[in-house]
Amino acid sequence: MKLKKLTIGSTELPGNLLLAPMADVTNLAFRLLCRQYGADLTYTEMIHSDALVNENRKAIMKGLTNREDWPFGVQLVGNSPESLREAALLVEEEFRPVVIDVNMGCPAKCITRAGCGSTLLKSPELVHKIISGLADALETPVSAKVRILEREEESLEIARLIEDAGALALTVHGRTAGQMYSGNSDLRQIRAIKKELSIPVIANGDIRDEESAENALEFTGCDGLMVGRAAMGNPFIFRRIRHYLETGEKLEPDPQTRQLEDFEAYITLLEEHGLLPSINLRMHAQWFTKGLHGSRYIREKISGMKDARSIIELMKTSCQENY
Ligand SMILES: Cc1cc2nc3c(=O)[nH]c(=O)nc-3n(C[C@H](O)[C@H](O)[C@H](O)COP(=O)(O)O)c2cc1C
Repeated sequence: MKLKKLTIGSTELPGNLLLAPMADVTNLAFRLLCRQYGADLTYTEMIHSDALVNENRKAIMKGLTNREDWPFGVQLVGNSPESLREAALLVEEEFRPVVIDVNMGCPAKCITRAGCGSTLLKSPELVHKIISGLADALETPVSAKVRILEREEESLEIARLIEDAGALALTVHGRTAGQMYSGNSDLRQIRAIKKELSIPVIANGDIRDEESAENALEFTGCDGLMVGRAAMGNPFIFRRIRHYLETGEKLEPDPQTRQLEDFEAYITLLEEHGLLPSINLRMHAQWFTKGLHGSRYIREKISGMKDARSIIELMKTSCQENY
């Protein structure tokens, strides 16, 4: 049995498989679906602290989570300790999540230009101020999600500093910001960070199937695994990995109907939670129907459709042979 329990603060999770925060992906409906398939903790898409504090509080908080969405973490992005603290306090009061995470890894220009995401890693003092400010102000555990730095020693330094500042967990994506998504996630650096810290360390990057999950856990000795891109359109991956870590056996390959059933369940959840109008349906359809017969036709027809029943009908008729 290789699946371990993961404890963050006072919350003991039944396992250690986490869904990564992903902008435009990990909305409430998608998180619920991943949870049904065995994700032990899911995170919201990153939320900018300034937006939460100054502008769109109501719009952001509406549909962010609900009672079934437990346990979940909220990820904030920002670079002002004051704004992050204020936003985190709002989140804590409203939602009581398991953990409030600070994004210190996003390499996208629109984020780094504003001094947020991975740019923070160049300012250790600011990182310390942000994490200690949050840890002092909140009852909720605070965590950070980082990318590695060029030199291992620099990564270790920032990881130690995050722990010393009061974070109760750290997620490490084993690529530098400069790499974006190229190359492979460096499990050696993740392992070195895990060895260095006492708080739970969660390994992230390139976990795409049963073997990569087992290998990342064994090689790094990490306390948890976070799955990102491999879950897009494929929430069933959590059941696969979980089953394998629990039993050492692999589940049968997916029948094509599985993808369509999952997409149908996803559309239904989006509609139930009023989220259908706010997502790029064509993009999500692309992920869920990858490799399926009739998927191109579905994608072409689907954009602009906002009614769940007609979308599901379209899927069924387009893929009749294998549905
Ligand atoms: C579409 C997309 C959106 C993402 N958004 C976020 C985000 O909001 N916050 C964050 O910390 N990381 C974000 N990431 C990075 C992932 O959380 C994860 O660290 C990265 O994809 C590496 O893991 P993977 O190899 O399992 O995909 C995003 C990645 C993708 C592909």
